[in-house]
Amino acid sequence: MPISADEPLLQVANLSSGYGKIVVLHGVDLTVAAGEVVALLGPNSAGKTTLLRAVSGLLPRSGSVRFAGRDLLGANARETVQAGLVHVIEGHRVFTQLAVQDNLLLAARDLPRRERASRVDEMFGLFPEIAAKRHERAAALSGGQQQILAVAQGLVRRPRLLMLDEPSAGLSPVLVDRVLEVVRQLRETGTAVLLVEQLIEKALALADRVYALARGAIVLEARTSEADLPLRLENAYLATATTETASLAIR
Ligand SMILES: Nc1ncnc2c1ncn2[C@@H]1O[C@H](COP(=O)(O)OP(=O)(O)OP(=O)(O)O)[C@@H](O)[C@H]1O
Ligand SMILES: [Mg+2]
Repeated sequence: MPISADEPLLQVANLSSGYGKIVVLHGVDLTVAAGEVVALLGPNSAGKTTLLRAVSGLLPRSGSVRFAGRDLLGANARETVQAGLVHVIEGHRVFTQLAVQDNLLLAARDLPRRERASRVDEMFGLFPEIAAKRHERAAALSGGQQQILAVAQGLVRRPRLLMLDEPSAGLSPVLVDRVLEVVRQLRETGTAVLLVEQLIEKALALADRVYALARGAIVLEARTSEADLPLRLENAYLATATTETASLAIR
């Protein structure tokens, strides 16, 4: 669907969400332009995963969610995926007892039948390490390769925006670099990425822009090219830590 030149691909405004009576997100504003890589950083429990879940229609939400020129606020998770916004959830696990290829076919199951095989081949073209094991069970893949397969499961639908929640979690440094290299590859294919990451420096090296989230609110938004970014980020994190210390002291 065409969107006007000045409208971002994803535009989230005044988004609030949570779990039942627990409000986690308080009026979040966030945008991602077509083809842009945006990092979403923040301390543990800041609400990063909750934000991705709310954007992808997995949680009730209020505010505004526009994607590719459409209002998605009332959309559920399936409709959101069909609109081209795909979320690879935190700790996503592949089906280890199924063949690598079948994991991808499963992810492509609601695409037209005649397209499925070519989409799966497209993934094997992008990721040779899983192509080499396409007929083996996913259990035969290393942790990093399983993570790449999880990303490929999202990508097989050719999303316009892929949201990745800590794709490097639990991986050794070499595998972390390979998984993050995948994000770089996505940029080349024109896919926009919203990346939640604990490895701040690595995320900043990849991203065009960054948001920091603390206690369910955006505390910083910047381009990664800004020279004073490390200091501003440190202050954003420190401000959170200071508030926590202060509230502990009051108790
Ligand atoms: N299912 C749930 N029910 C109730 N509260 C939840 C639920 N999931 C998360 N929370 C709470 O929401 C807040 C934000 O959690 P969230 O998982 O979004 O943080 P995060 O930034 O992704 O943290 P991490 O870096 O540890 O992954 C936390 O206080 C958490 O305890
Ligand atoms: Mg999380």
